[in-house]
Amino acid sequence: MIAASARNVVMEFEGGGGRTRVLHGASIEVPAGGLTLLVGPSGCGKTTLLSVLSGTLAATSGEVEVMGERLSDLDDAARVRLRRRRIGFIFQQYNLLPSLTVAENAAIPLVTAGMKLSEASRRAQPVLERLGMAAHLDKLPRQLSGGQQQRVAIARALVNEPALILADEPTGALDSETSAEVMQLLDALNRQGITVILVTHEADMAAWARRSLLFKDGRLVADENNRKNRDLTPITRGSA
Ligand SMILES: Nc1ncnc2c1ncn2[C@@H]1O[C@H](COP(=O)(O)OP(=O)(O)OP(=O)(O)O)[C@@H](O)[C@H]1O
Ligand SMILES: [Mg+2]
Repeated sequence: MIAASARNVVMEFEGGGGRTRVLHGASIEVPAGGLTLLVGPSGCGKTTLLSVLSGTLAATSGEVEVMGERLSDLDDAARVRLRRRRIGFIFQQYNLLPSLTVAENAAIPLVTAGMKLSEASRRAQPVLERLGMAAHLDKLPRQLSGGQQQRVAIARALVNEPALILADEPTGALDSETSAEVMQLLDALNRQGITVILVTHEADMAAWARRSLLFKDGRLVADENNRKNRDLTPITRGSA
């Protein structure tokens, strides 16, 4: 089964008196259950591709499918629903709200989906506890270390029990030890069945991936199966 795919996706931005083409016909296929790394230099279009896959940005042309749904067949409301119910997001800068507690921050996707904050925070607690954050539920983000803040962000990505996690440089702001902890967490989640697409420009992260896609100038330039690095079932293109 394919969790997400892009076919010949072109993305152009208007502005500055012209159009800039960022994705030049990008095609990828992400098998369900995999942990796929998207690697490439700064500015090559990784974040843009994640935004297109999540339906946050509409591609200029090309086809995107997520969990069996072709995004261009969905209206805005259906795209938002798909995103809220099936996808979790993790960012480099955590994006926590400074005046909300740990539990409240992790609860945000449930609140956005219509749940009361108090009820949503209660639902977020066991997720935070599983991530080792039991002692910090009532703290504010500024009272936490970077690694702890990223755990809150991971809890926030998990609280709606997504099938797919899109992580954009989730370890970019962390030291190497804390980065390894966060990668272990993502790896464990992946082993529980969540598909993970992870953007990084840190090549050493490749050891964690089931598969790396090297991305350059808006195109996929290499597809490396990393099974040699790990004791893992080989993943071939187009199979789950
Ligand atoms: N909304 C936008 N309007 C205009 N140009 C944009 C927009 N978003 C991104 N770009 C341009 O598209 C290119 C790719 O940006 P993108 O953020 O996808 O790169 P990236 O691979 O994620 O880089 P990094 O590793 O630095 O995060 C950049 O040149 C950027 O300036
Ligand atoms: Mg980026």
